[in-house]
Amino acid sequence: MQQTVLWTTDLPMYEVKTSVHVRIRDTATTCQEAAQIMQEGGLVAFATETVYGLGASVLHEEALKKVFLVKGRPQDNPLITHVSQIDQVTQLASEVSDLARALMNHFWPGPLSILFPVRDDVSRIVTAGLDHVAIRMPNHPQALALIDALGAPIAAPSANQSGKPSPTLAHHVLDDLADKIDGVIDGGACDVGIESTVIELQGDHIIILRPGRISAEDLREFGAEVSLDPFLEHHEIPSKPRAPGQKYRHYAPQGQLTIYLGDDSQKIEERIAKEAQALAQQGFKVGALVMNSDFTPNVDALFYLGSLASFTELEKNLYVALRSCDDRHIDRILAQGTPEVGRYRAFMNRLYKAAGGNIITVS
Ligand code: TXA
Ligand code: MG
Repeated sequence: MQQTVLWTTDLPMYEVKTSVHVRIRDTATTCQEAAQIMQEGGLVAFATETVYGLGASVLHEEALKKVFLVKGRPQDNPLITHVSQIDQVTQLASEVSDLARALMNHFWPGPLSILFPVRDDVSRIVTAGLDHVAIRMPNHPQALALIDALGAPIAAPSANQSGKPSPTLAHHVLDDLADKIDGVIDGGACDVGIESTVIELQGDHIIILRPGRISAEDLREFGAEVSLDPFLEHHEIPSKPRAPGQKYRHYAPQGQLTIYLGDDSQKIEERIAKEAQALAQQGFKVGALVMNSDFTPNVDALFYLGSLASFTELEKNLYVALRSCDDRHIDRILAQGTPEVGRYRAFMNRLYKAAGGNIITVS
């Protein structure tokens, strides 16, 4: 069993199992201690603005291998690397196009991962053998301080057990990975709440491989020509997607999730309330994810994700709600959906993955 350290600036307000060693430190000391552990091949989870990442030094081959083992991550799913300065990109990328440079200057630090041709001396464990490496600069002071303290880019997938919703709070990481990794730095709740946008560049053209907070609309406003990887439009799981992670069922809660779609919110609410009652009568524990705080169906776990008018609230609260349903052993989750267009695409992409195809259109 691995002794896991929890670094915090204050006494944690959540339950921490006794095997976890709590260290109350300021951020600078935390990052020095964590960076030293990572230099020696350890794995440390840290907060970013999107979700918590499970970090390994890109220079430490054994640590990179451990990331896959600890998460139960398929070997063919590459890791995103994290830098604290734009200059660091050339330690990983063999070529930086003018478009890439303009995007970095405009959107970094922020939730945009860009694919670059990878240098020969970068471990192929990071790229899962592919010839491109994904890089982003996270917009979180602790993440940036940790990379600075390490003095090298950090490879970090989301810090969850593979297949579970990504962690947006330190205790989510501990729930999945305590006693398996060297440490977790508590950086509070992640602001964005879903993973970064992943893009590929083809000449002047941007292709979105995974939607995120930086939307196609944002990239077009910036002046680029943008398209979505075709499978994002059709929800069919490609056998060889360009972002390998997209072929795995992700973000899944333990309970079965059904999405309710339609033009009329009131009808959707009526349907959810009716369904909840029927399921409860059959003995299921029922959860509901709703977008109207006045709608209070009789369920075992009710989550108001945020207003339908605010995709940012919906994104921020989705994984917290899904994980909470798991904690409460919810069997059936009924979720209101939105049209999968514009800036709602990222939220709905994650909700669809959690639902694994259970969608009901209410008319
Ligand atoms: O917001 C985020 O991106 C978080 C935080 C920690 O930065 N990280 C994250 O990593 O979500 P992960 O491993 O859970 O998801 C990485 C995604 C996967 O779908 C993977 O297939 C894709 O990015 N990806 C990474 N490197 C790639 C590459 N070289 N080529 C194609 N896709 C890549
Ligand atoms: Mg992940």
